[in-house]
Amino acid sequence: MEVIVRASADAVADYVHDRIVEQLRGVPSSVLGLPTGGTPVPVYARLVESYRTGVISFKQATTFNLDEYIGLGSEHPASYAAYMRHHLFDHVDCPARRRHIPDGLASDVDAEAAAYDRAIANAGGMGLLLLGLGENAHIGFNEPGSDFASRTRPVDLAASTMAANARYFTDGTRPPTRALSMGIGTILEARSIIVMATGPRKAEAVRRMVREAPTNEVPGSALQLSRDVTVVLDHAASSKLERHLRPPCQQQQAPQ
Ligand code: F6R
Repeated sequence: MEVIVRASADAVADYVHDRIVEQLRGVPSSVLGLPTGGTPVPVYARLVESYRTGVISFKQATTFNLDEYIGLGSEHPASYAAYMRHHLFDHVDCPARRRHIPDGLASDVDAEAAAYDRAIANAGGMGLLLLGLGENAHIGFNEPGSDFASRTRPVDLAASTMAANARYFTDGTRPPTRALSMGIGTILEARSIIVMATGPRKAEAVRRMVREAPTNEVPGSALQLSRDVTVVLDHAASSKLERHLRPPCQQQQAPQ
């Protein structure tokens, strides 16, 4: 796990943008995994600008979003499909047939989830996966207790996740209690992963993800098992990482 600390949320977005640009310019047919939420919004704004100025194209790219609420159709303003159109897809040249988001209205959610994992595999697997981090250290909607081997599946959202996301349901719709989420096992198969976290509310989740021995209670800690993970933080999100802390196994040794 490489941990990079930048001065501000804008600088974090600059870093992530530059990594995605590098990926797309190196491999235009890249398969990207993409998150929603507040943290990546400035990344998408920068990518749209880079597309407009001819720096990148998504024409040959394939995308897989991490999750979608069960019960929301793609036209619902709080759906992640609508989020992705608003922040990215309406403004770049990624063909609709290569943009994937789980169908929140699927009549058989288990079949939809299994088909989603098959589609990722058929596309050759994700080359670069971008993740946000929940305040409870969830990744995708893999809440505490999720199996590290889990595949894409229907999940129950934690109460804290529903509370954190209630702000997006401004039209009186009750926030969904379930979602389809890429599993942790699916996530760990991505060849390269970037996790971004900004702001003081993420500091404890970041500490647990980076410093605790991998445990199901801290879904983000599963990322320690991946060969290529970059965690990029602003100062506030990194505030609980002690700079010179040794790995957990050494910390437990009695002083000489
Ligand atoms: C979103 C997702 C979630 C978010 C996380 C952080 O697709 O999978 O794991 O990345 O809840 O959300 P924000 O960025 O809103 O703090």
